[in-house]
Amino acid sequence: MSTLTQAESSFSSTSPLDMTRTMPPNITGFEERMRRALENVANQSDLAFLVQRHRFFGSEHERSSVANWLARRLGDTPEIARTLITGGTQNALMILLRSLVGSGGVLATEKFTYAAIGQLGRLLGIEVVGIELDDDGIIPESFEAACQRDNVVGLYCNPTCHNPTTSIMSTERRRALAEIARRFDVTIFEDDVHGALTDEAPPPLATFAPDRTWYIMSTSKLIGMGLRAAFVVGPSVEAVVDIQKKLPSVSAWFVPGVSTVMVADLIDSGDADIFASKIRAEVAARHALVRSIIQPIELVHAHHSSLHIWVDLPARWTIETFVEAAGAEGITVRNPAVFATAGFEITRNIRLSLVAPKSQDDLSWGLGRINRLLRS
Ligand SMILES: Cc1ncc(COP(=O)(O)O)c(C=O)c1O
Repeated sequence: MSTLTQAESSFSSTSPLDMTRTMPPNITGFEERMRRALENVANQSDLAFLVQRHRFFGSEHERSSVANWLARRLGDTPEIARTLITGGTQNALMILLRSLVGSGGVLATEKFTYAAIGQLGRLLGIEVVGIELDDDGIIPESFEAACQRDNVVGLYCNPTCHNPTTSIMSTERRRALAEIARRFDVTIFEDDVHGALTDEAPPPLATFAPDRTWYIMSTSKLIGMGLRAAFVVGPSVEAVVDIQKKLPSVSAWFVPGVSTVMVADLIDSGDADIFASKIRAEVAARHALVRSIIQPIELVHAHHSSLHIWVDLPARWTIETFVEAAGAEGITVRNPAVFATAGFEITRNIRLSLVAPKSQDDLSWGLGRINRLLRS
C-alpha cells in the first residue's frame, strides 16, 4: 500500500519519479564508510604518485585483494596475473570485444540484453546476433543453431539476474552453454554484475568453461558507478598478457588510481561484504512492497535480489501507451526497445527499477500508480 498520497508526494508529470535506471539503493552507513575510504586515499603516502600516474589494472596488492574476494563467486582464487581491475565493465568490453571478436565478427547474446551491447556492437563494427530465451535464460538449441548458421566468435551473456528479464540461469543450462561454446570454439564474455548481490545463484559460467571465459564483475551495483571500476578475470595468464602486450598505452580501460585504492580498501575492511548484505536486505524489502502492491503478482517476473522487475503488460496496453500513461501519472518508465537486439521486438514487457526511487515510500507511491494503470 502506498504510504505517500498524491498530495504528500513531490512527483508529478513535470517532476516525475524515475523508475528507469538501476544503481545501489541507499543503505545505512554508506556515506560514513565511503568517507573513511576517501580519508584513506587522502592519507596515502604516495598520493601525488597515485593521482599523477596511471594505476593500469591496480597494484599487486589491490589485484590480490580482488582475486581473493572473487573466490566467493568463482570458488577458487584466480591467479593475480589473470585478474585485472579495469575502468568499468563497458570499457573492458570495448577492448575485449574489439580484440577478440573483431570488426566484422559475430557476437551472440540474449535476444533481450543490456542496452550497451547493441551500442558497443555498432561502435566496434561487430554484428550482434540475438539468441532465444526462456525463463532459464539462453536456450541452448538456439545458441547452437546460431553457432552453425552465423560463424559466432563470441557470446556475451548475463546469466545471473539477467538484464532485463531477471532470470537466473540453472546449473544445467550453464553446463550446456559451456559445452556448445567449447564445441564451436566460442569465447564467452560473462557479465556477473549482480554476482555479489545474489545469495543463491549457481556458480558463474566461468567455472564451467574456465578455458574460454572472460569473467567480469562491476562495482557499479555494489558501491557505485561513479568509481568506474570492474574486475576482469581472463581464461589464462597468456590470454591476459597477450592483450595487455598489444595495447600497452591504451588507457581506455585502465582503472582510476583513486578508485582502485578505495575498492581494495572496502574489500580489505569487510565493507564491501557489508554493502552486499545490506543491499540484499534493502532490495528484498522493496520486493516485499512489490508483492503487496502489484496485483495480480503473476504479472511480475523477479528474483528477490534483482534491482528491477520485468512486468507483463495486460493486453489493453501497448509499450507506447503505457510509457505515456505512466509519464502522465508522474513516473518515468523506460521504453524497453533499448534492450532488444536487431530483429527482435519487446511488445509486452516493461522494466521497472526498484532502486532509482530514493526511499521505500517513494517506491510505494510509484508502485501504487503503476498498479492502478495495470488494472485499469
Ligand atoms: C548488465 C550490466 N552490466 C554491467 C553494468 C555496469 O557497467 P559499468 O561497470 O560499465 O558501470 C550494468 C549497469 O549499469 C549492467 O546492467
